[in-house]
Order: sequence, then structure tokens, then C-alpha cells
Amino acid sequence: MKIPCFLLVCLSVQCFASYKPVVIIHGVWDLRYSLNFLAEQIKQHHVGTEVHVIDILHGWKSLAPLWYQVKAFYARLLPIMKQATNGIILIGYSQGGILSRGIVEAMEHNITTFISLSSPQAGQYGDDFLQLIFPQYIKETAYELFYSRVGQRISVANYWNDPHHQELYYKYSQYLPYINNEISESYQKEYWKNFVKLKKLVLIGGPDDGVITPWQSSHFGYFNEKENVTEMRAQEFYRQDLFGLRTLDNAGKIKIYEIPGVHHTNWHHNVSVIKNCILPWLD
Ligand SMILES: *[C@@H]1O[C@H](CO)[C@@H](O)[C@H](O)[C@H]1NC(C)=O
Ligand SMILES: *[C@@H]1O[C@H](CO)[C@@H](O)[C@H](O)[C@H]1NC(C)=O
Ligand SMILES: *[C@@H]1O[C@H](CO)[C@@H](O)[C@H](O)[C@H]1NC(C)=O
Repeated sequence: MKIPCFLLVCLSVQCFASYKPVVIIHGVWDLRYSLNFLAEQIKQHHVGTEVHVIDILHGWKSLAPLWYQVKAFYARLLPIMKQATNGIILIGYSQGGILSRGIVEAMEHNITTFISLSSPQAGQYGDDFLQLIFPQYIKETAYELFYSRVGQRISVANYWNDPHHQELYYKYSQYLPYINNEISESYQKEYWKNFVKLKKLVLIGGPDDGVITPWQSSHFGYFNEKENVTEMRAQEFYRQDLFGLRTLDNAGKIKIYEIPGVHHTNWHHNVSVIKNCILPWLD
């Protein structure tokens, strides 16, 4: 019996190789297995997809400074990217999403799709979040710790964005204003170039998140000095296209999902979120 040629190709796994590998980066406090449900769902419902949950910096180690984490996670991404002829898909959950943006901008990559799953992309300023990490602080005073050289050794401080202490934020924060390319003396054209290489940016978040504050930060919206939220397109970093966000938007490459009814700790366990907001971007 003659076996058709295309079948032979399929049998030699080439068939599956057409899907891009998916890499998942966990959030703050997450444990080794926290993101496995999401990985299993992808493998089950998008058959043939190779999924990697990067297995480093769990638990309290997730509080390490973000530039350190960017380098550590990137080192794990490199061998996966080297083998991926069509590029890879990166999913960052919570803090893992703001960390992932650092990789997308500051590192050489072939990430074609970046899925930001409830991540504080424009920063974070809220008590619910603080309580998870520093219950002794409240949002009004946290800047005293976070906006200092010592405080910046904590990941959370790197994206703490206090709308009432913007001067200190720009002076001390070593991460968020840099990846936003807002520090003019340190402007990096490379960040813009690397970011606009994305073919798709998927932003997932919603009003019942309860931890990301304001929840619109998951869509690049943020508090103004009166603590009213303004949307992505009103932000200076967007208007001036400092790191390529407006360029991606104008090219129709940003997909925003606003999903009610999901608490922060459920995004990666919610089958309907995975099915409707993540799986469609893995082809
Ligand atoms: C993907 O990017 C990595 C890092 O820049 C590079 O080493 C690798 O060759 C690239 N792979 C492809 C297929 O372009
Ligand atoms: C800010 O929000 C308050 C209520 O929270 C509202 O009364 C006020 O009009 C808002 N200001 C602006 C400029 O949108
Ligand atoms: C799952 O997500 C849907 C929206 O897609 C939401 O209505 C529902 O409340 C969520 N369930 C949980 C347990 O988070």
C-alpha cells in the first residue's frame, strides 16, 4: 500500500510543528504548579501545541527586582526561540505580564504574540494588592518604602505608580518609567523597535479583578492625579508613542478583552476565559 506523501510528513511530527510554542510566565507569589492548569488546557484544546511554563523564581523569589527577572526568564526563553522557526507566543500572568513587556522591549526576540493576562501594564496603586505582600502598609504610605533605593529591590516597587507622588516615582522607579520610555535621558529606540515587532498584543482584564488597581491598568488605562481613570489612548506614553503602543494600535494589532465576573486569582483557571480570549490567538 502506498502511503500518501502528506501523511508521512504528518507522521514525522511536521504537522504539529506548524503551531508556535507557547511560553507562560507566572505572577507574584505563584508556586511551581500555579500555571499548570492553563498549560494543560492549551495542550488539550489546541492539540499539538508545545507549552512551556517557565519554572523559576516562584514564591518569595518572585519579589526579586524585575530587571533581574527579565534576564533570568529571557535565558530560559532563548533556547525555545532558537528552535521556533515561526516565532513564539508569550503569555504573562499578573506581574509576569509586566515582566514580559520588559523582555519584549529590551531583548532580542521573535515573540509574535504577547498575551497580557490581567497585568498591571500601567502600574499599580491599591490596598488589596498591598495586603497580599506588605499587610503593614497602606497605599497612601507605601511610597515611603517603594520610592527609595532599597525599596526598588522589591519587584512590586518597580511598578508601584502612586498618582500623588509622581515626582518620586520618576526619580526612584527603576522599571516601569523605563519600559514606558518616559525618562528622556534614557530613551531607548530599541525598546520601540522590539515592541513593534509584535504582530498581536492581547490585553485581558476586567472590572471584578479585585487586585489590579485600577483594573484598567490591565488595558494600559490609569489614575490621573485626582484618582480618576483615563484610558490607554489618553496616556502620554501612548500619545507620544514612546514605546510603540500607538503604532501597534494604529495597525489594528491590539485586541482588548474586558471580561466581568473574574477575580484576579481566577483568570488562569477560568475555562471560558482560556477558550474565548487565549486559544483564538494560538494559531
Ligand atoms: C529567534 O530569536 C532568537 C533570539 O534573538 C534567535 O537566536 C533565533 O535565531 C530566532 N529564531 C528564528 C527562527 O528566527
Ligand atoms: C473624577 O471623579 C469624580 C468622582 O469620583 C467626579 O465627580 C469628577 O467629575 C471626576 N473628574 C473628572 C475630571 O473626570
Ligand atoms: C469565568 O469567566 C466568565 C466570563 O467569561 C465569568 O462570567 C465567570 O464568572 C467566571 N467564573 C469564575 C469562577 O471566575
